[in-house]
Amino acid sequence: MSLHRSSVALAALLAVSVLLGSPPCTTSADDHRPIVARVRKDASTSLYTIAIKAGGVPLLLDLAGPLLWLANCPSPHRTFPCDIGVCKVANWNHPPNCPYMPATACSKGAACTAYPYNPVNGRCGHDDATTITLAANATDGKNPLFPVSFRAVGSCAPGELLASLPPGTAGVAGLSRLPLSLPWQVGYRLDVPKQFALCLPGGSGSDGVAVFGGGPFQLLAAPPIELAADIRENQLPLLRNPKSNNGAYYFRIIGIAVNQDKVPTPPGAFDLDPRRGTGGAVFSTVTPYTALRPDIYRPLHDAFGAATSGIARAPALAPFDMCYQASALGVTRLGYAVANIDLMLDGGRNWTLFGGSSLVQVDDHTVCFAIVEMGASMPAAANSPAVVVGGFQMEEHLLMFDLENGTFGFSGPLSGIRTGCSNFNFTMGPE
Ligand SMILES: *[C@@H]1O[C@H](CO)[C@@H](O)[C@H](O)[C@H]1NC(C)=O
Ligand SMILES: *[C@@H]1O[C@H](CO)[C@@H](O)[C@H](O)[C@H]1NC(C)=O
Ligand SMILES: *[C@@H]1O[C@H](CO)[C@@H](O)[C@H](O)[C@H]1NC(C)=O
Ligand SMILES: *[C@@H]1O[C@H](CO)[C@@H](O)[C@H](O)[C@H]1NC(C)=O
Repeated sequence: MSLHRSSVALAALLAVSVLLGSPPCTTSADDHRPIVARVRKDASTSLYTIAIKAGGVPLLLDLAGPLLWLANCPSPHRTFPCDIGVCKVANWNHPPNCPYMPATACSKGAACTAYPYNPVNGRCGHDDATTITLAANATDGKNPLFPVSFRAVGSCAPGELLASLPPGTAGVAGLSRLPLSLPWQVGYRLDVPKQFALCLPGGSGSDGVAVFGGGPFQLLAAPPIELAADIRENQLPLLRNPKSNNGAYYFRIIGIAVNQDKVPTPPGAFDLDPRRGTGGAVFSTVTPYTALRPDIYRPLHDAFGAATSGIARAPALAPFDMCYQASALGVTRLGYAVANIDLMLDGGRNWTLFGGSSLVQVDDHTVCFAIVEMGASMPAAANSPAVVVGGFQMEEHLLMFDLENGTFGFSGPLSGIRTGCSNFNFTMGPE
């Protein structure tokens, strides 16, 4: 998105504040606070949900999603005229293969149509743009403090669009870099920085947490530990993929190493090609396991296989193609004791995958290499990234995204500092 486009977006959102009406209602006069929401993992789909909608019904958390949408809007519901700026903003990102009505088809007085997209099954729909009431708690980064509720611009959606989402979800919360995403709208409505911290839970029985609007981020440990300050000092640049219109979080990987040995990959294998929109690395919360393009997957698979050749194998279980006997693996605080994988990033930094992130237990006796080959379990799309970092590898780490500065930061595995994403203190704190 160009500077011009973002200022257009801002103007459109300022205009829509008139439509949204009253300022956010809180039980306290104290505004400008970040907000906190619970994040859960659904056991049946391995997808994540966020409790951010008024009424408590969760929405699918889609890190790369451009919009907020809700299936089965009440009738009547609020609509916008199609000739106002916010309608144009809502329509920047019509998903690929979705029937789309060009803005020129807007006749005076007609309602704005938006194009909600289901990131799990790739279906899309069209329905009225509307306002959605969101609810969360203000936070000091340690506890929830008091309830906050406010309206955001979103879309209605046909009920069929809920197919493949976790049971009980009402729609999707898009957290992308585009101006109608949740972090952007929280920033705009509550007048807080357009930043968020995301801690995905590793287990389906425990709650993770998301904090929107900056500020500290503390997890219980002995003693409690504040993580945001360090991460903010060690940000890395996000990349723009001009061909990706959903505002996904792209970043640069320059290589991969196993036990400090660089894995031989073709020259330029990781590069983002801005002309074709292919390559690069991207985060995805709707991809359960990190997926690599075959030219990167194969050499990594072989290097990891060689580095773990002394560990008794088990028959492969789809979608994985390299598995071990659970009884043959030692366990440390960082998970199974196996070779480390370094994702080598900008500035000499590494995202290190220890055994807790590179291997997953699939049944009582079997543990598998938790990285998959694109094309096998997921189609290598025309605009395919080189690396899609999936939910499992993000779990039990703290990730922070800064939409204004176009940067991101991350912690190491939280088990390494004896805490975890379920250790946010959700007890109401002293205000
Ligand atoms: C605010 O926090 C309290 C305490 O954790 C919780 O019971 C309540 O559901 C939260 N409210 C919202 C809107 O998330
Ligand atoms: C990052 O990983 C590479 C490859 O394993 C290693 O050579 C390098 O020393 C690591 N850098 C840091 C800062 O740990
Ligand atoms: C963006 O980066 C600048 C320079 O590093 C820093 O001073 C500023 O605080 C950052 N903005 C936010 C919102 O963190
Ligand atoms: C959680 O927060 C509450 C409210 O501030 C506090 O009383 C309680 O001691 C905290 N829990 C832990 C385990 O520190």
